[in-house]
Amino acid sequence: MSSFKHVLVTGGAGYVGHVLVPQLLANDYAVTVYDTLWFGTNFAPHPRLKIVKGDIRDTKTLAEAVKGCDAVIHLACISNDTSFALDEKLSTSINRDAFTPMLKVFRDAGIKRLINASTSSVYGVSDSPEVYEDNPKVPLTLYNRFKWECEEQLMAFNDPGFVWVTIRPATVCGYSPRCRLDLSVNILTNFAVNKGKITVFGGTQKRPNLHILDMVNAYKMLLALPDEKIDRKTFNCGFQNLSIMEIAQLAKRVVEEQIPEKGTIDIEVTSSDDLRSYQINSDKIRRELGFAPQFTIEDAVRDMVKAFQQGLLPRSFDDSNYFNVKKLQELKVS
Ligand SMILES: NC(=O)c1ccc[n+]([C@@H]2O[C@H](COP(=O)([O-])OP(=O)(O)OC[C@H]3O[C@@H](n4cnc5c(N)ncnc54)[C@H](O)[C@@H]3O)[C@@H](O)[C@H]2O)c1
Repeated sequence: MSSFKHVLVTGGAGYVGHVLVPQLLANDYAVTVYDTLWFGTNFAPHPRLKIVKGDIRDTKTLAEAVKGCDAVIHLACISNDTSFALDEKLSTSINRDAFTPMLKVFRDAGIKRLINASTSSVYGVSDSPEVYEDNPKVPLTLYNRFKWECEEQLMAFNDPGFVWVTIRPATVCGYSPRCRLDLSVNILTNFAVNKGKITVFGGTQKRPNLHILDMVNAYKMLLALPDEKIDRKTFNCGFQNLSIMEIAQLAKRVVEEQIPEKGTIDIEVTSSDDLRSYQINSDKIRRELGFAPQFTIEDAVRDMVKAFQQGLLPRSFDDSNYFNVKKLQELKVS
């Protein structure tokens, strides 16, 4: 257990936040979720949970919300390439321009630890599985470039007592009460369960993946470790680097096993001119912090299949809450 008592989670009502926040509460933290609530909330009421509807660009509301907190996990952003591209001006204002003003609010409020969610796609493409933290950053999209620029902005904060750490997660997978069905493992499992057929574009592209429960374990660990272990450091955080075809075959096998009445799940391969591979090496977080993922991608597929069977993910191709692009188009955010 860490010395922190009250954690503010920006973007805490998103996909990762909906698994993270209940676990922080279970670990005796008080939690303030600070979020625009684009996807609503699906949290059970809790005496130590406060939900503030607010935008990270609104520093006045943010400064009020952070009073009394001692640590921050920063997740809020427009969180994939396609939703970023819908309105680049809006996305830039949130994903890049709001970052330093937000950090100043946290520093001035006496926050002692900030955990910054970046992404393992800051490196761009590489067929090498050995992409380490200090590899060159060749981000291919603005979403990825601004994640890297935020890391650089954070490096300018040297105030004593304001400890920060950046984590670069792989693509997350598995069930959350605010589930995203626009992430590779979850997409392919949705098709296998609900269409009986998976279409794979190309298929040879490798992607690093991480089970959502391991993602959450990593954030809990970064809160609990002593300052000197993490201060001003950056860590990749991924588990299995699998090709899209390997993920499709996994989804096919699990669905055929768990729901035999579905019969054979077909995999259709169509050509793609985007065969870029992203892979990362996550030895540093294991070596320096002792972090070892405990859940496989197969576990994530099994959890998703179970959630579909239990009716927890209704209208899985139509409800915009599962799809960041659809939701932002619907909300007409500015
Ligand atoms: N999910 C992944 O596979 C993955 C992989 C690598 C990194 N990450 C990073 O982890 C973080 C969380 O990802 P996620 O999948 O939970 O994303 P998400 O889109 O589900 O959640 C983001 C949340 O931020 C909120 N938000 C957006 N703009 C805001 C603003 N201006 N002010 C306040 N709240 C705002 C949204 O309402 C949403 O609830 C993001 O920073 C993302 O870039 C995610």
